[in-house]
Amino acid sequence: MAIKHYLQFADFSLDEYEYLIERTKIIKRKFKNYEPYHPLLDRTLVMVFEKNSTRTRLSFEAGMHQLGGAAIYLNTRDSQLGRGEPVEDAAQVMSRMCDIIMIRTFGQEIIDRFSRNSRVPVINGLTNEHHPCQVFADVFTYIEHRGSITGKTVAWVGDANNMLYSWLQAAEVFGFHVNVSTPAGYDINPALVSPANQRYTVFKDPSDACEGADLVTTDVWTSMGYEQENAARLKAFDGWIVDGAKMKRANKEALFMHCLPAHRGEEVSAEVIDGPQSVVWDEAENRLHVQKALLEYLVLGRV
Ligand code: CP
Ligand code: NVA
Repeated sequence: MAIKHYLQFADFSLDEYEYLIERTKIIKRKFKNYEPYHPLLDRTLVMVFEKNSTRTRLSFEAGMHQLGGAAIYLNTRDSQLGRGEPVEDAAQVMSRMCDIIMIRTFGQEIIDRFSRNSRVPVINGLTNEHHPCQVFADVFTYIEHRGSITGKTVAWVGDANNMLYSWLQAAEVFGFHVNVSTPAGYDINPALVSPANQRYTVFKDPSDACEGADLVTTDVWTSMGYEQENAARLKAFDGWIVDGAKMKRANKEALFMHCLPAHRGEEVSAEVIDGPQSVVWDEAENRLHVQKALLEYLVLGRV
């Protein structure tokens, strides 16, 4: 049987997400009630980080321990990956010693090549092109606060980055719409969006993108790996801050999300991220719960 990987949001069907959402609710409840739940006893997760992380490392490592398993952290600096060992060879070796692998790296093709050579499931913990675990946590967080996301409008104000491409895939799976506004020169790369995707509209003016939105979300202007563009981006993104005025254009009940880490005064004002519509801490916490459901599903299948 083919091994199931989670490399992009679109790798799972709506039916699988609905199952995972139900599992997440159950697993979260157990955690909140201090109820031990160890379905992954004696199983090992290997986590490979080629970029920095706080939330992703912590949520996967804590999550795997809570499920009864172990998690091992590797990074480029200390492992042979940093000395040029081919990704294909690393995948062969690592996947003989563990039950599941999570990778945070640069190009999506790296994780694609890795997964093709892995005997165990591989999870994308962020690439330049996608961040599916975060968007899954965000969709779960929306549903927790407001119910179904189907038919709703999400405003994306900022860079056309990994988070946006995962949101665009989520829109197709769950049937919602994304209003996208990026500064000129930082537009959506059509090669990263399915040509059949009818679930988004591009707006020149970031305030117009927020009009009537049920959720307003943004992310850093300079993602990891693009640091040399930081000065140019600071100029180009002037005006793309999510502030109180933009939130006023959204629905009254609109939520604000940011995957974090955030830069107050750049992509979001302090009044918004620290204000009553912001659910950023729930979003961060839900990384733990959705990923525990994901680990359980990829290792054990439906339980
Ligand atoms: N949101 C997120 O993935 O955070 P980290 O970079 O801290 O893992
Ligand atoms: N778009 C950001 C997300 C960080 C979690 C980055 O790739 O750096």
